[in-house]
Amino acid sequence: MATQTIETRSRKRITPAKAKTAAIGKAKAIAPDLAARIGSTPKTKFRGDPDVFGRLVEDHDRHRALLAMIEETQGKSPDRQTLFLELVKELKSHAAAEEQALWSTVLRDPETTDDARHAIAEHKEIDDMLADLAARDMASPGWLRRFADLRQEYLHHIREEEQEQFVAAQKHLKATDVRYMRRIFNRRKKEGKAVAKIEKKISLKD
Ligand SMILES: [Fe+2]
Ligand SMILES: [Fe+2]
Repeated sequence: MATQTIETRSRKRITPAKAKTAAIGKAKAIAPDLAARIGSTPKTKFRGDPDVFGRLVEDHDRHRALLAMIEETQGKSPDRQTLFLELVKELKSHAAAEEQALWSTVLRDPETTDDARHAIAEHKEIDDMLADLAARDMASPGWLRRFADLRQEYLHHIREEEQEQFVAAQKHLKATDVRYMRRIFNRRKKEGKAVAKIEKKISLKD
């Protein structure tokens, strides 16, 4: 299709700084008055890249910003509620689309199966942590402490993806594949975010 050809050919690498600013801007649009102090980010060669890995890092930066912004909120404020809902929708739709666009293919290659399994297992852990947080009172003193645990877990997950699993996966994938995967990811993420729902389930101990 002509439009697909245009999209794959016209996409250019943008600078890492521009890519990061744009991603943070998407998070800031939810609550423009809150600071998004994401600090320094782990080094990755994929930020600003025109293929699927650059697109995934763009989401990761957006998530880093949402996580930082939620830590700026108080009690059961409208900002905390709106940002948490956005975070849940973002993380769920990102993880599902990432599994469909990237990890399902990586899983098929015996040399990279373990990387895909690792990433998918962590998605499940993160999903459980989100459901646990959603089931608890946002105004309680323990909520932000539990949220800090989720933030740490998620930052660990995306750092590993960017620095280890994406690097390993890229070596085994063709350039045309990673470009095509970007389109699949975008479509699945959009569809998934539109129907993403908050699940509430206390599953973690103190
Ligand atoms: Fe992931
Ligand atoms: Fe990811």
